[in-house]
Amino acid sequence: MTPNTLKVLIIEDDPHVLVGCSQAFALEEIPTLTATSAEEALPMLAKDFAGIVISDIRLPGMDGLQLLKQIRQMDATLPVVLITGHGAISMAVDAMRDGAYDFIEKPFSPERLIEVARRAMEQRRLALEVSFLRKQLHEKPLEAFLIGHSAAMKTLRQLIANLADTDANVLIEGETGTGKELVARSLHDFSRRKLHAFVALNCGGLPESLFESEIFGHEANAFTGAGKKRIGKIEHAHQGTLFLDEIETMPIALQIKLLRVLQDRRLERLGSNQTIPVDCRIIAATKEDLEQHSKAGHFRTDLYYRLNVATLAIPPLRQRKEDIPLLFEHFLHESTLRFEREVPPPDRSTMASLQSHDWPGNVRELKNVAERYALGLPIFKSAMIPEKTGAQNFAQAVETFEKALIRDALAHYQGNLTQASQALGMAKTTLFDKVKKYNLKDESTGTGN
Ligand SMILES: Nc1ncnc2c1ncn2[C@@H]1O[C@H](COP(=O)(O)OP(=O)(O)OP(=O)(O)O)[C@@H](O)[C@H]1O
Ligand SMILES: [Mg+2]
Repeated sequence: MTPNTLKVLIIEDDPHVLVGCSQAFALEEIPTLTATSAEEALPMLAKDFAGIVISDIRLPGMDGLQLLKQIRQMDATLPVVLITGHGAISMAVDAMRDGAYDFIEKPFSPERLIEVARRAMEQRRLALEVSFLRKQLHEKPLEAFLIGHSAAMKTLRQLIANLADTDANVLIEGETGTGKELVARSLHDFSRRKLHAFVALNCGGLPESLFESEIFGHEANAFTGAGKKRIGKIEHAHQGTLFLDEIETMPIALQIKLLRVLQDRRLERLGSNQTIPVDCRIIAATKEDLEQHSKAGHFRTDLYYRLNVATLAIPPLRQRKEDIPLLFEHFLHESTLRFEREVPPPDRSTMASLQSHDWPGNVRELKNVAERYALGLPIFKSAMIPEKTGAQNFAQAVETFEKALIRDALAHYQGNLTQASQALGMAKTTLFDKVKKYNLKDESTGTGN
């Protein structure tokens, strides 16, 4: 919503003044509504009227002061500017005390009229945004967005609610699939920046050469192969939120440039000397310990402190297993809607295996498992009996099954023998022997660390 989409309702019985005001606004491309009495104007107004009111005090029938009282009762945040006759200052002062936004004394210049109206419209815009956000919060509480009733999730939601409508940069830490992007979106969606863009950029997803123009933009032909002018992600996020995912992978050379933008709140596109003001809130996410990275010299310490005004650490799912049933139910519900099929509620053994699993892929993994369940597939691949056992005898079939379980566990834990052995409930030395026996060395890191 820009101030120019707001209207000005002018209430004036003197046709010359009315036409003069309307023309002054038309020149500024500010839309107007007009009325010649308070009685005519009132039906045009409602709570959350997208505009402001400018009214003469002296009107036939109900006067401007009574109109002000009625409007205040309906919507106390709707700015009312009063026009007073020459020398009626004391009346205007009383009106201000009664809640008028400002007054203009006749005769007035178009400049004065526009200046007061613009200020009132800006105030109105902010009030409407706040009212819109309150409704949003009321209609779609954060709990419906970010599910979980563990103490950690409750604290996280509380922090998000407190931080959302501030401009503080936030660093989100968490393992893969814990919900970092969802948290970033929640911060955006529950702020007034929601009315503008949420721009996500994966710092690890681009070669360094492309990254710079992707984030800062470039002028036409700024470098070989640049082609047309390009607006960078930061500019796209103007007035909104820029989400920098996997921030730890940002090339060091670009970190200094980003720092400068954060400090100066302006940027230059590549190949341009013109500085462009930018107002965007930065939310960064990392799977790593960024503080350690900065201590080790892999990440600029000054940038780390800039990004890390507030930190939101999302614990892995294995540390908040009480969230599993609610999340599973939620994803199952989503899946049944998507696949349009009825699914029986999970039985005790399913719930038990969900609870005993370690969830290296965190909530994303749980979501996939719920989808598999909704489709009637085995929920954990490792629990599957290999389909083609061929003409095996019992001992061979067991070995095939055992090998499949071990291979899955190693894949799960990226070859880490210690974690895989814990997950399988098997001594590490036993696992090591079996890895050798089944020739699975390529799948394990071999060190057990
Ligand atoms: N608390 C939660 N409530 C509901 N859905 C969740 C929650 N946490 C995560 N999700 C869902 O899980 C999936 C993974 O979340 P998200 O993409 O935000 O994780 P991430 O931390 O950014 O992962 P990665 O590090 O791999 O990028 C998404 O579909 C997200 O909507
Ligand atoms: Mg992510």
